[in-house]
Amino acid sequence: MTDEKKTIDILLLGSGGREHALAMKLAESPLCGELYIAPGNGGTVEVGENVALDENDPAAVADFARETNIGLVVIGPEAPLVAGVADAVREAGIPCFGPGAAGAQMEGSKRFSKELMGRANIPTAAYGVFTNEEDALAYVREQGAPLVVKADGLAAGKGVIVATELVQAEEAVRECFGGTFGEAGSTVVVEEMLTGPECSLLAFTDGKTVRPMATSQDHKRALEGDKGPNTGGMGVYSPVPIVTDEEQTEMERIMNATVAQLAAEGIDYRGCLYGGFMLTPQGPKVLEFNARFGDPETQVVLPRLKNDLVEVMLACANQTLDQVELAWRDEWAVSVVLTSAGYPGSYEKGKVITGIEDAAAMENVTVYHAGTAVNEDGDVVTAGGRVIDVTALGATFEDARNLAYEACEKIQFEGKTLRHDIGLRALKGRSAWA
Ligand code: AMP
Ligand code: GLY
Repeated sequence: MTDEKKTIDILLLGSGGREHALAMKLAESPLCGELYIAPGNGGTVEVGENVALDENDPAAVADFARETNIGLVVIGPEAPLVAGVADAVREAGIPCFGPGAAGAQMEGSKRFSKELMGRANIPTAAYGVFTNEEDALAYVREQGAPLVVKADGLAAGKGVIVATELVQAEEAVRECFGGTFGEAGSTVVVEEMLTGPECSLLAFTDGKTVRPMATSQDHKRALEGDKGPNTGGMGVYSPVPIVTDEEQTEMERIMNATVAQLAAEGIDYRGCLYGGFMLTPQGPKVLEFNARFGDPETQVVLPRLKNDLVEVMLACANQTLDQVELAWRDEWAVSVVLTSAGYPGSYEKGKVITGIEDAAAMENVTVYHAGTAVNEDGDVVTAGGRVIDVTALGATFEDARNLAYEACEKIQFEGKTLRHDIGLRALKGRSAWA
Protein backbone atom coordinates (compact mmCIF):
# COMPACT_ATOMS: atom_id res chain seq x y z
CA MET A 1 0.00 0.00 0.00
CA THR A 2 1.15 3.48 -0.77
CA ASP A 3 -0.25 6.81 0.37
CA GLU A 4 -0.75 7.89 -3.21
CA LYS A 5 -4.27 9.03 -3.97
CA LYS A 6 -6.13 7.04 -6.60
CA THR A 7 -6.93 8.81 -9.83
CA ILE A 8 -10.48 9.08 -11.12
CA ASP A 9 -11.74 9.23 -14.68
CA ILE A 10 -13.70 12.38 -15.51
CA LEU A 11 -16.40 13.22 -18.04
CA LEU A 12 -16.76 16.91 -18.93
CA LEU A 13 -19.76 18.08 -20.96
CA GLY A 14 -19.59 21.03 -23.35
CA SER A 15 -17.64 22.44 -26.26
CA GLY A 16 -16.77 26.09 -25.62
CA GLY A 17 -13.75 28.08 -24.46
CA ARG A 18 -15.03 27.54 -20.93
CA GLU A 19 -14.77 23.78 -21.40
CA HIS A 20 -11.24 24.01 -22.82
CA ALA A 21 -10.26 26.00 -19.71
CA LEU A 22 -12.02 23.52 -17.40
CA ALA A 23 -10.38 20.59 -19.22
CA MET A 24 -6.89 22.09 -18.89
CA LYS A 25 -7.35 22.79 -15.19
CA LEU A 26 -8.82 19.34 -14.49
CA ALA A 27 -6.00 17.64 -16.43
CA GLU A 28 -3.42 19.48 -14.28
CA SER A 29 -4.62 17.61 -11.20
CA PRO A 30 -2.73 14.52 -10.01
CA LEU A 31 -6.19 13.06 -9.24
CA CYS A 32 -7.25 13.21 -12.91
CA GLY A 33 -7.11 9.87 -14.73
CA GLU A 34 -8.72 9.65 -18.18
CA LEU A 35 -10.48 12.84 -19.22
CA TYR A 36 -13.38 12.60 -21.68
CA ILE A 37 -14.98 15.70 -23.19
CA ALA A 38 -18.39 15.46 -24.85
CA PRO A 39 -18.55 16.76 -27.48
CA GLY A 40 -15.43 18.93 -26.96
CA ASN A 41 -13.73 21.13 -29.57
CA GLY A 42 -10.47 21.51 -31.53
CA GLY A 43 -8.59 22.39 -28.32
CA THR A 44 -9.95 19.82 -25.89
CA VAL A 45 -8.62 16.98 -28.11
CA GLU A 46 -5.15 18.00 -26.97
CA VAL A 47 -6.07 17.59 -23.30
CA GLY A 48 -8.26 14.50 -23.32
CA GLU A 49 -10.47 12.39 -25.53
CA ASN A 50 -13.42 13.97 -27.34
CA VAL A 51 -16.41 11.66 -27.37
CA ALA A 52 -19.50 11.84 -29.55
CA LEU A 53 -22.28 11.83 -26.97
CA ASP A 54 -25.48 13.86 -26.82
CA GLU A 55 -24.65 16.11 -23.87
CA ASN A 56 -28.33 17.01 -23.45
CA ASP A 57 -29.59 13.43 -23.13
CA PRO A 58 -29.68 12.52 -19.41
CA ALA A 59 -29.91 8.76 -19.98
CA ALA A 60 -27.15 8.70 -22.60
CA VAL A 61 -24.78 10.65 -20.34
CA ALA A 62 -25.56 8.51 -17.28
CA ASP A 63 -25.13 5.29 -19.30
CA PHE A 64 -21.79 6.41 -20.71
CA ALA A 65 -20.59 7.44 -17.25
CA ARG A 66 -21.63 4.11 -15.73
CA GLU A 67 -20.16 1.99 -18.52
CA THR A 68 -16.89 3.94 -18.53
CA ASN A 69 -16.58 3.86 -14.74
CA ILE A 70 -16.46 7.67 -14.49
CA GLY A 71 -15.74 9.03 -11.00
CA LEU A 72 -16.85 12.63 -11.63
CA VAL A 73 -19.11 14.25 -14.22
CA VAL A 74 -18.62 18.01 -14.75
CA ILE A 75 -21.36 19.87 -16.63
CA GLY A 76 -20.20 23.02 -18.45
CA PRO A 77 -23.21 24.55 -20.26
CA GLU A 78 -26.72 25.42 -19.11
CA ALA A 79 -28.74 23.26 -21.54
CA PRO A 80 -27.77 19.85 -20.03
CA LEU A 81 -28.36 21.25 -16.53
CA VAL A 82 -31.85 22.44 -17.44
CA ALA A 83 -32.49 19.06 -19.14
CA GLY A 84 -31.79 17.22 -15.87
CA VAL A 85 -28.51 15.54 -16.80
CA ALA A 86 -27.11 16.06 -13.27
CA ASP A 87 -30.16 14.34 -11.77
CA ALA A 88 -29.66 11.26 -13.98
CA VAL A 89 -25.94 11.09 -13.19
CA ARG A 90 -26.52 11.33 -9.44
CA GLU A 91 -29.29 8.74 -9.63
CA ALA A 92 -26.70 6.43 -11.18
CA GLY A 93 -24.62 6.96 -8.03
CA ILE A 94 -21.91 9.02 -9.75
CA PRO A 95 -20.62 12.28 -8.24
CA CYS A 96 -21.64 15.25 -10.38
CA PHE A 97 -20.59 18.90 -10.48
CA GLY A 98 -23.66 20.87 -11.53
CA PRO A 99 -27.15 21.42 -10.13
CA GLY A 100 -30.15 19.26 -11.02
CA ALA A 101 -33.05 20.57 -13.09
CA ALA A 102 -34.65 22.22 -10.04
CA GLY A 103 -31.55 24.30 -9.25
CA ALA A 104 -30.88 25.02 -12.93
CA GLN A 105 -34.11 27.04 -13.02
CA MET A 106 -32.01 29.83 -11.49
CA GLU A 107 -30.78 30.29 -15.06
CA GLY A 108 -33.45 28.46 -17.06
CA SER A 109 -36.25 30.75 -15.92
CA LYS A 110 -35.71 34.43 -15.19
CA ARG A 111 -39.13 34.46 -13.56
CA PHE A 112 -38.11 31.67 -11.17
CA SER A 113 -34.90 33.42 -10.14
CA LYS A 114 -36.62 36.82 -9.73
CA GLU A 115 -39.29 35.26 -7.52
CA LEU A 116 -36.71 33.41 -5.43
CA MET A 117 -34.77 36.67 -5.00
CA GLY A 118 -37.99 38.31 -3.85
CA ARG A 119 -38.53 35.65 -1.18
CA ALA A 120 -34.96 36.10 0.08
CA ASN A 121 -35.01 39.91 -0.10
CA ILE A 122 -32.11 39.98 -2.52
CA PRO A 123 -31.54 43.35 -4.22
CA THR A 124 -32.45 43.21 -7.91
CA ALA A 125 -34.17 45.42 -10.52
CA ALA A 126 -37.92 46.04 -10.11
CA TYR A 127 -39.84 44.00 -12.67
CA GLY A 128 -43.06 42.64 -14.11
CA VAL A 129 -43.71 39.19 -15.62
CA PHE A 130 -46.05 38.70 -18.59
CA THR A 131 -47.43 35.80 -20.55
CA ASN A 132 -49.30 37.88 -23.12
CA GLU A 133 -48.29 40.72 -25.41
CA GLU A 134 -51.11 43.13 -24.53
CA ASP A 135 -50.34 43.19 -20.79
CA ALA A 136 -46.60 43.48 -21.42
CA LEU A 137 -47.12 46.42 -23.80
CA ALA A 138 -49.44 48.14 -21.33
CA TYR A 139 -46.81 47.81 -18.58
CA VAL A 140 -44.03 49.05 -20.87
CA ARG A 141 -46.08 52.14 -21.80
CA GLU A 142 -46.97 52.81 -18.18
CA GLN A 143 -43.32 52.55 -17.02
CA GLY A 144 -41.77 54.37 -19.97
CA ALA A 145 -38.18 54.02 -21.26
CA PRO A 146 -35.48 53.11 -20.43
CA LEU A 147 -36.46 49.49 -19.78
CA VAL A 148 -34.93 46.04 -20.16
CA VAL A 149 -36.97 43.33 -21.89
CA LYS A 150 -35.97 39.71 -21.30
CA ALA A 151 -37.17 36.43 -22.76
CA ASP A 152 -37.82 34.19 -19.74
CA GLY A 153 -36.00 31.08 -20.95
CA LEU A 154 -32.58 30.21 -22.36
CA ALA A 155 -31.52 32.30 -25.36
CA ALA A 156 -27.70 31.96 -25.42
CA GLY A 157 -27.18 35.40 -23.89
CA LYS A 158 -29.13 37.06 -26.68
CA GLY A 159 -32.64 37.22 -25.20
CA VAL A 160 -32.06 40.52 -23.36
CA ILE A 161 -32.86 43.88 -24.97
CA VAL A 162 -31.81 47.07 -23.20
CA ALA A 163 -34.26 49.62 -24.62
CA THR A 164 -33.45 53.31 -24.23
CA GLU A 165 -36.53 54.38 -26.23
CA LEU A 166 -40.13 53.32 -25.71
CA VAL A 167 -40.48 52.10 -29.31
CA GLN A 168 -37.49 49.77 -28.83
CA ALA A 169 -39.08 48.28 -25.71
CA GLU A 170 -42.38 47.79 -27.55
CA GLU A 171 -40.59 46.16 -30.46
CA ALA A 172 -38.67 43.87 -28.09
CA VAL A 173 -41.91 42.73 -26.45
CA ARG A 174 -43.44 42.00 -29.88
CA GLU A 175 -40.30 40.15 -30.92
CA CYS A 176 -40.39 37.91 -27.84
CA PHE A 177 -44.06 37.04 -28.22
CA GLY A 178 -43.61 36.80 -32.00
CA GLY A 179 -41.34 33.80 -31.52
CA THR A 180 -37.82 35.15 -32.19
CA PHE A 181 -36.59 33.31 -29.09
CA GLY A 182 -38.94 30.34 -29.51
CA GLU A 183 -40.46 28.88 -26.34
CA ALA A 184 -37.96 30.96 -24.28
CA GLY A 185 -39.90 34.11 -25.22
CA SER A 186 -43.43 32.94 -24.37
CA THR A 187 -42.96 34.49 -20.93
CA VAL A 188 -41.38 37.94 -20.79
CA VAL A 189 -39.77 39.78 -17.89
CA VAL A 190 -39.66 43.59 -18.12
CA GLU A 191 -37.17 45.26 -15.77
CA GLU A 192 -36.16 48.67 -14.55
CA MET A 193 -32.82 49.64 -16.18
CA LEU A 194 -29.97 49.69 -13.69
CA THR A 195 -26.75 51.65 -14.16
CA GLY A 196 -23.17 51.13 -13.05
CA PRO A 197 -20.26 48.80 -13.73
CA GLU A 198 -21.00 45.09 -14.04
CA CYS A 199 -19.20 42.46 -12.00
CA SER A 200 -19.46 38.68 -12.10
CA LEU A 201 -18.98 36.72 -8.91
CA LEU A 202 -18.90 32.97 -9.38
CA ALA A 203 -19.04 30.67 -6.39
CA PHE A 204 -18.44 27.00 -5.75
CA THR A 205 -21.13 25.48 -3.58
CA ASP A 206 -22.16 22.09 -2.27
CA GLY A 207 -25.60 23.39 -1.31
CA LYS A 208 -24.47 24.26 2.23
CA THR A 209 -21.07 25.95 2.06
CA VAL A 210 -20.38 28.74 -0.44
CA ARG A 211 -16.85 29.56 -1.61
CA PRO A 212 -16.82 32.70 -3.75
CA MET A 213 -14.21 32.84 -6.51
CA ALA A 214 -12.26 35.89 -7.66
CA THR A 215 -14.33 38.67 -9.28
CA SER A 216 -14.33 39.13 -13.04
CA GLN A 217 -15.87 41.51 -15.56
CA ASP A 218 -17.22 40.46 -18.92
CA HIS A 219 -17.79 42.75 -21.92
CA LYS A 220 -21.17 41.68 -23.28
CA ARG A 221 -21.70 44.12 -26.14
CA ALA A 222 -20.39 43.26 -29.59
CA LEU A 223 -18.76 46.61 -30.37
CA GLU A 224 -16.15 48.86 -28.82
CA GLY A 225 -17.39 51.43 -26.33
CA ASP A 226 -20.00 48.90 -25.14
CA LYS A 227 -22.15 49.47 -28.22
CA GLY A 228 -24.07 47.06 -30.41
CA PRO A 229 -26.03 43.95 -29.52
CA ASN A 230 -25.42 41.69 -26.51
CA THR A 231 -23.24 38.65 -27.14
CA GLY A 232 -22.12 35.68 -25.06
CA GLY A 233 -19.06 37.80 -24.06
CA MET A 234 -16.26 39.53 -26.00
CA GLY A 235 -13.54 39.73 -23.36
CA VAL A 236 -13.01 39.62 -19.64
CA TYR A 237 -10.56 40.29 -16.84
CA SER A 238 -9.99 39.29 -13.22
CA PRO A 239 -9.97 40.62 -10.55
CA VAL A 240 -12.17 43.72 -10.92
CA PRO A 241 -10.10 46.61 -9.49
CA ILE A 242 -12.96 49.07 -9.01
CA VAL A 243 -14.93 46.91 -6.54
CA THR A 244 -14.94 48.38 -3.03
CA ASP A 245 -14.63 46.24 0.10
CA GLU A 246 -18.27 47.02 0.95
CA GLU A 247 -19.42 45.89 -2.48
CA GLN A 248 -17.37 42.70 -2.25
CA THR A 249 -18.87 41.89 1.16
CA GLU A 250 -22.40 42.56 -0.09
CA MET A 251 -21.96 40.38 -3.19
CA GLU A 252 -20.66 37.55 -1.02
CA ARG A 253 -23.59 37.98 1.37
CA ILE A 254 -25.98 37.75 -1.58
CA MET A 255 -24.35 34.54 -2.87
CA ASN A 256 -24.65 32.96 0.58
CA ALA A 257 -28.24 34.14 1.03
CA THR A 258 -29.19 32.74 -2.37
CA VAL A 259 -27.79 29.27 -1.68
CA ALA A 260 -29.44 29.32 1.77
CA GLN A 261 -32.78 30.20 0.13
CA LEU A 262 -32.39 27.37 -2.40
CA ALA A 263 -31.64 24.94 0.44
CA ALA A 264 -34.61 26.22 2.49
CA GLU A 265 -36.84 25.52 -0.52
CA GLY A 266 -35.57 21.96 -0.75
CA ILE A 267 -33.25 22.49 -3.72
CA ASP A 268 -29.93 20.66 -3.39
CA TYR A 269 -27.58 22.86 -5.45
CA ARG A 270 -24.10 21.47 -6.06
CA GLY A 271 -21.87 23.16 -8.60
CA CYS A 272 -21.12 26.71 -9.65
CA LEU A 273 -23.56 29.53 -8.99
CA TYR A 274 -22.81 32.57 -11.15
CA GLY A 275 -23.96 35.93 -9.81
CA GLY A 276 -24.14 38.67 -12.44
CA PHE A 277 -24.17 42.00 -10.57
CA MET A 278 -24.51 45.65 -11.37
CA LEU A 279 -22.71 47.93 -8.93
CA THR A 280 -25.40 50.60 -8.69
CA PRO A 281 -25.20 53.80 -6.63
CA GLN A 282 -27.49 51.97 -4.13
CA GLY A 283 -25.11 49.00 -3.90
CA PRO A 284 -24.74 45.73 -5.83
CA LYS A 285 -27.93 44.39 -7.42
CA VAL A 286 -28.36 41.05 -9.17
CA LEU A 287 -28.88 41.22 -12.95
CA GLU A 288 -29.08 37.47 -13.32
CA PHE A 289 -27.95 34.16 -11.95
CA ASN A 290 -26.44 31.41 -14.07
CA ALA A 291 -26.27 27.80 -12.96
CA ARG A 292 -22.76 27.21 -14.32
CA PHE A 293 -19.37 28.75 -14.91
CA GLY A 294 -19.31 31.87 -17.10
CA ASP A 295 -17.89 31.90 -20.57
CA PRO A 296 -15.45 33.72 -20.92
CA GLU A 297 -15.17 34.40 -17.12
CA THR A 298 -13.80 30.89 -16.57
CA GLN A 299 -10.90 31.68 -18.90
CA VAL A 300 -9.60 34.34 -16.46
CA VAL A 301 -10.76 32.90 -13.13
CA LEU A 302 -9.38 29.36 -13.41
CA PRO A 303 -5.84 30.37 -14.44
CA ARG A 304 -5.69 32.39 -11.19
CA LEU A 305 -7.00 29.55 -8.98
CA LYS A 306 -4.22 27.80 -7.07
CA ASN A 307 -6.32 24.87 -5.84
CA ASP A 308 -6.60 21.44 -7.39
CA LEU A 309 -9.85 21.75 -9.36
CA VAL A 310 -10.68 18.03 -9.13
CA GLU A 311 -10.47 18.23 -5.34
CA VAL A 312 -12.72 21.32 -5.21
CA MET A 313 -15.30 19.85 -7.60
CA LEU A 314 -15.41 16.54 -5.74
CA ALA A 315 -15.95 18.48 -2.51
CA CYS A 316 -18.94 20.23 -4.14
CA ALA A 317 -20.33 16.94 -5.45
CA ASN A 318 -19.81 15.12 -2.13
CA GLN A 319 -20.84 18.00 0.16
CA THR A 320 -17.49 18.43 1.89
CA LEU A 321 -16.76 21.96 0.67
CA ASP A 322 -16.49 23.21 4.27
CA GLN A 323 -13.09 21.48 4.29
CA VAL A 324 -11.79 23.47 1.30
CA GLU A 325 -10.35 26.99 1.26
CA LEU A 326 -9.63 28.66 -2.05
CA ALA A 327 -6.35 30.42 -2.86
CA TRP A 328 -5.64 32.85 -5.70
CA ARG A 329 -2.59 33.94 -7.62
CA ASP A 330 -1.75 37.64 -7.37
CA GLU A 331 -1.36 38.09 -11.12
CA TRP A 332 -4.00 39.87 -13.17
CA ALA A 333 -5.67 37.99 -16.00
CA VAL A 334 -7.10 39.49 -19.20
CA SER A 335 -8.80 37.46 -21.93
CA VAL A 336 -9.75 38.71 -25.39
CA VAL A 337 -12.26 36.81 -27.54
CA LEU A 338 -11.61 36.44 -31.28
CA THR A 339 -14.90 36.11 -33.12
CA SER A 340 -16.08 35.37 -36.66
CA ALA A 341 -17.17 38.48 -38.61
CA GLY A 342 -20.94 38.86 -38.27
CA TYR A 343 -21.26 37.39 -34.76
CA PRO A 344 -23.68 37.56 -32.87
CA GLY A 345 -25.60 37.53 -36.19
CA SER A 346 -24.83 35.06 -38.96
CA TYR A 347 -21.22 34.23 -39.83
CA GLU A 348 -19.22 31.83 -41.99
CA LYS A 349 -17.43 28.73 -40.70
CA GLY A 350 -14.55 26.57 -41.86
CA LYS A 351 -11.86 29.31 -42.07
CA VAL A 352 -8.35 27.99 -41.44
CA ILE A 353 -6.78 29.42 -38.26
CA THR A 354 -3.03 30.04 -38.14
CA GLY A 355 -0.64 31.18 -35.43
CA ILE A 356 -2.22 29.42 -32.45
CA GLU A 357 1.02 27.65 -31.57
CA ASP A 358 3.05 30.89 -31.80
CA ALA A 359 0.66 32.64 -29.44
CA ALA A 360 0.46 29.70 -27.05
CA ALA A 361 4.27 29.50 -26.90
CA MET A 362 4.45 32.99 -25.38
CA GLU A 363 5.18 33.00 -21.67
CA ASN A 364 2.09 33.65 -19.51
CA VAL A 365 -0.26 33.25 -22.49
CA THR A 366 -2.88 30.53 -22.86
CA VAL A 367 -4.96 30.05 -25.98
CA TYR A 368 -8.37 28.52 -25.33
CA HIS A 369 -10.33 27.12 -28.24
CA ALA A 370 -14.04 27.93 -28.36
CA GLY A 371 -15.73 27.51 -31.76
CA THR A 372 -12.99 25.53 -33.48
CA ALA A 373 -12.85 22.14 -35.15
CA VAL A 374 -10.23 20.08 -36.94
CA ASN A 375 -11.03 19.52 -40.65
CA GLU A 376 -10.19 16.52 -42.88
CA ASP A 377 -6.75 17.96 -43.68
CA GLY A 378 -5.92 18.26 -40.00
CA ASP A 379 -6.22 22.07 -40.03
CA VAL A 380 -7.81 23.88 -37.12
CA VAL A 381 -10.76 25.81 -38.57
CA THR A 382 -13.46 28.16 -37.29
CA ALA A 383 -16.68 26.42 -36.26
CA GLY A 384 -18.56 29.04 -34.24
CA GLY A 385 -19.15 32.71 -33.50
CA ARG A 386 -16.71 32.96 -30.61
CA VAL A 387 -13.66 31.19 -32.00
CA ILE A 388 -10.67 31.62 -29.66
CA ASP A 389 -10.02 33.18 -26.25
CA VAL A 390 -6.54 34.49 -25.61
CA THR A 391 -5.75 34.80 -21.90
CA ALA A 392 -2.63 36.50 -20.52
CA LEU A 393 -1.40 36.81 -16.95
CA GLY A 394 0.64 39.80 -15.80
CA ALA A 395 2.06 41.43 -12.70
CA THR A 396 -0.10 44.47 -13.42
CA PHE A 397 -3.42 44.91 -15.20
CA GLU A 398 -1.66 46.78 -18.01
CA ASP A 399 0.97 44.06 -18.45
CA ALA A 400 -1.70 41.39 -18.73
CA ARG A 401 -3.74 43.49 -21.15
CA ASN A 402 -0.81 44.37 -23.41
CA LEU A 403 0.37 40.77 -23.49
CA ALA A 404 -3.11 39.47 -24.38
CA TYR A 405 -3.34 41.87 -27.35
CA GLU A 406 0.20 41.03 -28.48
CA ALA A 407 -0.75 37.35 -28.53
CA CYS A 408 -4.01 38.08 -30.41
CA GLU A 409 -1.98 39.56 -33.29
CA LYS A 410 -0.26 36.24 -33.90
CA ILE A 411 -3.54 34.44 -34.58
CA GLN A 412 -5.12 34.92 -38.00
CA PHE A 413 -8.23 33.73 -39.80
CA GLU A 414 -10.50 35.25 -42.42
CA GLY A 415 -13.09 37.45 -40.70
CA LYS A 416 -11.19 37.62 -37.38
CA THR A 417 -12.93 40.28 -35.26
CA LEU A 418 -12.12 41.54 -31.77
CA ARG A 419 -12.77 44.41 -29.42
CA HIS A 420 -9.64 46.43 -28.72
CA ASP A 421 -10.97 48.06 -25.57
CA ILE A 422 -11.22 45.09 -23.20
CA GLY A 423 -10.37 46.37 -19.71
CA LEU A 424 -9.82 49.93 -20.86
CA ARG A 425 -12.55 51.46 -18.73
CA ALA A 426 -11.42 49.67 -15.58
CA LEU A 427 -7.91 51.00 -16.16
CA LYS A 428 -9.34 54.52 -16.13
CA GLY A 429 -11.05 53.85 -12.79
CA ARG A 430 -14.57 54.10 -11.43
CA SER A 431 -15.21 57.52 -12.92
CA ALA A 432 -15.25 55.94 -16.38
CA TRP A 433 -18.74 54.64 -15.56
CA ALA A 434 -20.11 57.98 -14.41
P1 AMP B 1 -28.69 38.98 -18.29
O1 AMP B 1 -28.58 37.82 -19.25
O2 AMP B 1 -30.00 39.06 -17.59
O3 AMP B 1 -27.50 39.16 -17.39
O4 AMP B 1 -28.55 40.26 -19.23
C1 AMP B 1 -27.47 40.40 -20.11
C2 AMP B 1 -26.93 41.78 -20.02
O5 AMP B 1 -27.94 42.76 -20.25
C3 AMP B 1 -26.34 42.13 -18.67
O6 AMP B 1 -25.04 41.67 -18.51
C4 AMP B 1 -26.42 43.64 -18.70
O7 AMP B 1 -25.39 44.19 -19.49
C5 AMP B 1 -27.72 43.88 -19.41
N1 AMP B 1 -28.83 43.99 -18.42
C6 AMP B 1 -29.60 42.99 -17.96
N2 AMP B 1 -30.49 43.43 -17.06
C7 AMP B 1 -30.29 44.74 -16.94
C8 AMP B 1 -30.91 45.79 -16.16
N3 AMP B 1 -31.94 45.55 -15.34
N4 AMP B 1 -30.40 47.03 -16.30
C9 AMP B 1 -29.40 47.31 -17.14
N5 AMP B 1 -28.79 46.38 -17.90
C10 AMP B 1 -29.21 45.11 -17.82
N1 GLY C 1 -20.25 35.59 -19.92
C1 GLY C 1 -21.60 35.53 -19.58
C2 GLY C 1 -22.12 34.18 -19.33
O1 GLY C 1 -21.40 33.21 -19.27
O2 GLY C 1 -23.33 34.07 -19.21
